[in-house]
Amino acid sequence: PVLPHDLFEAIQVLKHKLNAVILAHYYQDPDIQDVADYIGDSLELARKAANTNADVIVFAGVHFMAETAKILNPNKLVLLPDLNAGCSLADSCPPDQFAAFKAAHPDHLVISYINCTAEIKAMSDIICTSSNAVKLVNQIPKDQPIIFGPDRNLGRYVMEQTGRDLLLWQGACMVHENFSEKKIVQLKITHPEAEVLAHPECEPPVLRHANYIGSTSALLKYSQQSYNKSFIVATEPGIIHQMQKQTPDKRYIPAPPINNCACNECPYMRLNTLEKLFLAMKNSTPEITLPEHIRVAALRPIQRMLEMSV
Ligand code: 13P
Ligand code: SF4
Repeated sequence: PVLPHDLFEAIQVLKHKLNAVILAHYYQDPDIQDVADYIGDSLELARKAANTNADVIVFAGVHFMAETAKILNPNKLVLLPDLNAGCSLADSCPPDQFAAFKAAHPDHLVISYINCTAEIKAMSDIICTSSNAVKLVNQIPKDQPIIFGPDRNLGRYVMEQTGRDLLLWQGACMVHENFSEKKIVQLKITHPEAEVLAHPECEPPVLRHANYIGSTSALLKYSQQSYNKSFIVATEPGIIHQMQKQTPDKRYIPAPPINNCACNECPYMRLNTLEKLFLAMKNSTPEITLPEHIRVAALRPIQRMLEMSV
């Protein structure tokens, strides 16, 4: 397709024409972050999606995020620039296997991390994100057994923080399990002044070295408020665009991956490009759709999350 010379300008024009809002996650390409109306972590983006007056939601993130926006807004057009922008963590929890796991533990409450498909949400009692998981689990009576899925690393972190025993689904994120503890330790030796910031989707050996653990928004906030001037960042490096933009005088070093690939960018998040975002708005496709019975069942645990995490 022939693309306009100034994509930024063309996207703004389409935004007004469609009465659209562009929501972007911190792991998106910097150009997409710069064109977005709101950038946030999963919880903030779900809140924005729940409260928007726009007719069209352009979701620059991955499929489960756009799906959450659609679950909250059945009558709005929700666009995802590339429908193949999935998630290895969501893929690590197939609905039929999770249904059997749940059936084997009928007395358990099911708390699912938002990084899962609508089918898994529909089987859950409460949805959580990395920024409210501890807070939500702490609100459940101590004698209530809990299944927590699909991320085993966030699950273990929540267990540590709450002192609760959770029955964990053994899923994981390929990006956050790819950070090298050894290389982080080496970086700490060459940069003794740097603080390590880590996302709870990282494995325990990496989290052990962290000065601060939190969701993408929490890591950003910490980096801005800290008196420290340099940081080793153990999450997808898209977040560094905002960190650097807000505090250009500070130094942000991406935590190195185990293998020798160029970086720890999420291959799914990065499928979205500014060009695809423009084309999605121009052509009103690809659009997120889902069966109404799944949508209705998945809405309940999302609403519970929004109520419980005010
Ligand atoms: P948060 O932005 O909620 O911390 O989520 C991180 C993530 O992996 C999203 O895919
Ligand atoms: Fe999924 Fe991991 Fe990518 Fe987040 S970073 S979208 S959890 S694969």
